[in-house]
Amino acid sequence: MTFAALAASAQSTEQTHAPSSPQLASPAIERRVDDLLKKMTLEEKIGQLVQYNDSGYESATSPVQIAANPEANIKVNAMELAATGRLGSMLNTVGAERTNAFQHAAVDRSRLHIPLLFGADIIHGYRTIYPQPLGLAATFDPDLVQSLGRMSAEEATTAGVRWFYSPMVDISRDARWGRTTEGAGEDPYLGAAMARAYVLGYQGASLSNPDSVAACVKHFAAYGAAEAGREYNTTDMSEIRLRQIYLPPYKAAVEAGAATIMSAFNALNGVPATANRLLLQNVLRDEWGFNGLVVSDYTAIMELINHGIALDAATATRKAILAGVDVDMMSHFYDTQLPELIRTGQVPMSVVDEAVRRVLRVKFALGLFEHPYARATEITAAVPEHRPLVRKAAEESFVLLKNDHALLPLQATAKKIALIGPLADNAGEMLGSWGAGQRLPDVITIKDALEARAKQSGGTVLYAKGTEITGTSEEGFAEAVHDAEQSDVAVLALGESGSMSGEAGSRAHLDLPGNQEKLLEAVAATGRPIVLLVFSGRPLVLDWAAQHVVAIMEVWFPGTEAGNAIADVLYGDVSPTGKLPMSFPRAVGQEPLYYNQFPTGRPPRNIDLSKPPGPDTRFFSRYIDVPNDALFPFGYGLSYTQFSYDKVTLSRSGIPLRVANLENAKHLINATVTVTNTGSRVGTEIVQCYVRNLGASVEQPVRSLKGFTRVTLKPGESKQVSFDLGFAELSFDNAQSKAVIEPTHYTVWIGGSSLANEGADFVVTP
Ligand code: BGC
Repeated sequence: MTFAALAASAQSTEQTHAPSSPQLASPAIERRVDDLLKKMTLEEKIGQLVQYNDSGYESATSPVQIAANPEANIKVNAMELAATGRLGSMLNTVGAERTNAFQHAAVDRSRLHIPLLFGADIIHGYRTIYPQPLGLAATFDPDLVQSLGRMSAEEATTAGVRWFYSPMVDISRDARWGRTTEGAGEDPYLGAAMARAYVLGYQGASLSNPDSVAACVKHFAAYGAAEAGREYNTTDMSEIRLRQIYLPPYKAAVEAGAATIMSAFNALNGVPATANRLLLQNVLRDEWGFNGLVVSDYTAIMELINHGIALDAATATRKAILAGVDVDMMSHFYDTQLPELIRTGQVPMSVVDEAVRRVLRVKFALGLFEHPYARATEITAAVPEHRPLVRKAAEESFVLLKNDHALLPLQATAKKIALIGPLADNAGEMLGSWGAGQRLPDVITIKDALEARAKQSGGTVLYAKGTEITGTSEEGFAEAVHDAEQSDVAVLALGESGSMSGEAGSRAHLDLPGNQEKLLEAVAATGRPIVLLVFSGRPLVLDWAAQHVVAIMEVWFPGTEAGNAIADVLYGDVSPTGKLPMSFPRAVGQEPLYYNQFPTGRPPRNIDLSKPPGPDTRFFSRYIDVPNDALFPFGYGLSYTQFSYDKVTLSRSGIPLRVANLENAKHLINATVTVTNTGSRVGTEIVQCYVRNLGASVEQPVRSLKGFTRVTLKPGESKQVSFDLGFAELSFDNAQSKAVIEPTHYTVWIGGSSLANEGADFVVTP
């Protein structure tokens, strides 16, 4: 159904889908919720919808938010609220002692003994930290992501946290947006696979297990499309784009049983997501059958005033709760405004009851009433047994972008290594943005690891910081150049700090910050071979480096085992396998840049894009000063070995339309290719399957990822790899927002990146 049709049925609460989470739909839970609801006063009900941090008597909102809106300046005493049943959940209360103290107040002292739910931003590990989600997406390894999610849930539940504000599944196609680091990048298929994996990992076999946490899928919806990549900015897009590109990861997370969703800060097509009934009720609940709770983002209900769709707190509250926001995170509006809104009939009591019901359902499903306190002995540092998993995750996340003359892995002859750069011995910056429980002493830096490795093989490491991450002083350059001159190879650890991406980390420049590129140029001038390790939470513009540096590896922010993982890959114990989850541009002006673009009427085919346009090449969809394509495209990444692909074969050349449109058909056509390791080392290739559909009633992307798998091959070994393409992979949303297959022409490519050129065609016959 289109949005227009959904809006017309806005009052309907009829679900077209079975409840998304069977665990939240249990009759036993429903009975307990009914019993409890009957006993609750209005104040206690509203309490369940209120979320604060543990700021004691302080104003619970930041000075920035108060400056923007003085109404937010309310002082709360969270402990007192918990003890009197006027608080339902808390955020970022970390540590077993604190969570247990609040929980005791709620469970022992409040009239109905309803436990609190503790939520936290555990985005890429609690104590044992793994790469941030963009790095993890480069693994194309959902099983690994699921295991990591499980691991972090096991750790954080020992501190009483039972709710992760994760996964962030916002598609991001614009590298300027800092929150690219928190998601899986530009592609909806990969994004959906990752979204599912996080939810399954966090929520475990059963939500009620004390080591399971409720996932909070965020930020619903289309936050990643913030205009100009500017944080908190508006988004505006067609329904087709929304459904085809932006919604699939949220939907996949809901289908995987995610218990909660966070409404986004941004407006979508003119309506802030936090007051957007079309999104929160019609799409999420009616269309997808979501039966969990919706929490607002931090002060997002208050921000409806700043958005200009509410003149006062009462209106903002009414709009949010009627749109379907159940829990107010930090706006202080539900508790102050709802009593009067209910008394005057502006918000029906049934709406509040329904919101409370959703909160209680999640609490019962989590087994919070049975085991409200932090489980087991609190984990207070990185766990030794978890280190191998986060080390593997870091290794798999690295993307080798360039490796001329097989500079990597380092040869036994590379005895003297110059290790240069502000990230070379920097524990804090190995962790990236976000993190509630990370501890710097747990982190292995590159310097730690490389020195240990070099020693084993009788080598040495000369370390020079060279400059600061955002430095302007060139004082350290001389030492760096001197070290490089003395060495067989220079390893430069350059890039962003963690805080240059993440929330409020938008950048208008995407180059190496400060004077790091100058440092790189100075070291390159020595003529020593250079390995450039790039740390970043987003694609950077690496144009100069790509032309002048022999080897480049994107390492994101690798986490606790950063140094060891980097050493493993540099020395060749592990061959790199990562593939880019976002396109790396040649220039900022190309942003937003993504491989699955729509075609234009003037595609610049067969033109040498590196040449400036002449009279016969000008009037095409191209820049006059930079090629259109990415410097390093989506899906791209090298290995220490090489892979070849033979011809793609299809199981059939045509599919009758009637058969193609069987909505649940999983196996409409099968595409097969043989992959061979043509190099001399064992390696793992991420084999990717792309599809294009030509001739449909609405334009389709020039190609879209529809499958991927990891294949490990010995030198000379070949394997057949097949992809099953069914209705889900071949259908698209037509102008009526109905997923359909039309009698059209398809091309399927299989290869090692979004540039895969081994393809085969088939048709859907009328
Ligand atoms: C962020 C969310 C986060 C929340 C709670 C907000 O500012 O946008 O992603 O979960 O804060 O910390």
